[in-house]
Amino acid sequence: MNKASVFNEMVNKRPQNMDGILETPTKPTFPRVIAVTSGKGGVGKTSVVGNLAIAFRRLGKRVLILDGDLGLANIDLIFGLNPKHNIRHVMSGEKDLAEVIIEGPEDIHIIPAGSGVHDLAHLTNGQKLNLLNEFDTLNEDFDIFLIDTGAGISSNIIYFNIAAQERIVVATCEPSSIRSACALMKVIFTEHGTKRFKLLANMVKDAQEARLVFENLCNEAAPLLGRISIEYLGFIPKDEHCEKAAKEQRPVLQRFPHCKSSKGFCELAERLLTSSAEGPSDGNIKFFWRKLMSCH
Ligand SMILES: Nc1ncnc2c1ncn2[C@@H]1O[C@H](COP(=O)(O)OP(=O)(O)OP(=O)(O)O)[C@@H](O)[C@H]1O
Ligand SMILES: [Mg+2]
Repeated sequence: MNKASVFNEMVNKRPQNMDGILETPTKPTFPRVIAVTSGKGGVGKTSVVGNLAIAFRRLGKRVLILDGDLGLANIDLIFGLNPKHNIRHVMSGEKDLAEVIIEGPEDIHIIPAGSGVHDLAHLTNGQKLNLLNEFDTLNEDFDIFLIDTGAGISSNIIYFNIAAQERIVVATCEPSSIRSACALMKVIFTEHGTKRFKLLANMVKDAQEARLVFENLCNEAAPLLGRISIEYLGFIPKDEHCEKAAKEQRPVLQRFPHCKSSKGFCELAERLLTSSAEGPSDGNIKFFWRKLMSCH
């Protein structure tokens, strides 16, 4: 089978409803490109990406995930996958994108991270071209493109954030998480002019504590407000089921679909879909890669 047909076969699989009837997702003109990011590590980005992907699938959306923590695979772990190839093989031209993309649970598609890919800024022109050519083949085959950016203010993380159409900043009630989230937004804005952010409070006790995370972040970012906007997106409660599911290398929404965090992920996906996509309407996957490759 040639590359195009392998890929078409992969992306044309549709979720079935309870009666086994194929659902036909309504296809927006462009996929939404959403980066999930944080200043501090361990606040729940990978959990958010993995579970949001499942929730979007169940709402009939075709989802592609990029594990953007390039040096340290994350998404493989939450889905219990062991990919043979990764984005490094696409950069080097050894593999086509279709050979590297793997299928996760519920027909989620994943571009695995590769060890040894440390800095997008140091890609050769040949490697950039390999990536661009391959991503051109993706076209509009997905409705949502989620990027797990990794944590901090290293250049890759900044580039993924500015190239994405929307940015979900994950923070917990820990002051260090809030401070580092603010530092990340500041770098993204001051160095690249990107202004719009959405805050997701994770591992909080309740709605009140989540609001406090938002208020504290706004206070910390006060000198920037007016120039940047931070939208409150909601919260995922702290839930022991997350840890239990993580130990089994499964997203909590699959393992414990009725627990409080799973409910939070479903509501979050619905909220995101009812809010319109931000940013330029050409914020599709191809555009994302072009922007990414021209960041440095
Ligand atoms: N809402 C939650 N309640 C309880 N535990 C959670 C919640 N969200 C995430 N966790 C747990 O917190 C730990 C860190 O989560 P995760 O790996 O998703 O964070 P991360 O931001 O991706 O970390 P890193 O920056 O290291 O990539 C995991 O063990 C995960 O199961
Ligand atoms: Mg992670």
